[in-house]
Amino acid sequence: MAQMKDKMVPFISAEEINSMIADLAKKIEKDYAGQEIIIFCPLKGSCLFVADLVRKIHLPVIIDFVHLTSPKGEGVRILKDITVDITNKHVLIAEEIVDAGRTLSFLRSRLLAGSPKSLKIVALLDKPARRELPIKPDYIGRTIDDRFVVGYGLDSEELGRNYSDIYNYAN
Ligand code: IMP
Ligand code: MG
Repeated sequence: MAQMKDKMVPFISAEEINSMIADLAKKIEKDYAGQEIIIFCPLKGSCLFVADLVRKIHLPVIIDFVHLTSPKGEGVRILKDITVDITNKHVLIAEEIVDAGRTLSFLRSRLLAGSPKSLKIVALLDKPARRELPIKPDYIGRTIDDRFVVGYGLDSEELGRNYSDIYNYAN
């Protein structure tokens, strides 16, 4: 059956994604050596990124999921809140992509209210040209220009999350 990706252009291959994540994991392992980390996966887009990232971090890792939504013209809303106690813990948000930064700013404030020992952000992709709020990931897999990408967790109207590679629309 025809798929959306058939009409798209390959942008980042599965091999490149794998090596970007290996580099991120190495940095994280070094910075958090000897410590436990709570890694937050904002649903749904970050599911594949978190699944691959945590398997490359050889430290005690606790995973939790949050689900936020930001309908057009409305503020950010929580669909699923955190379920672990983050008081005095090292917390890392793992986002597949940072765009305007609205979701991430909201989540950061929400988590800071839980008094973590530290709070950092790891982003597989960063689109700084689109930023509306001042938020900067501490670890970035790759900075990209202003383009809409699909695959590896990233969707277009909910489809394409299952692609192993990342694609964009032909210009
Ligand atoms: P922000 O709040 O504007 O930073 O939005 C971040 C969220 O928008 C991401 O977690 C993605 O779910 C979605 N998003 C942003 N850019 C893209 C894209 O290029 N493709 C697919 N989803 C995207
Ligand atoms: Mg999305």
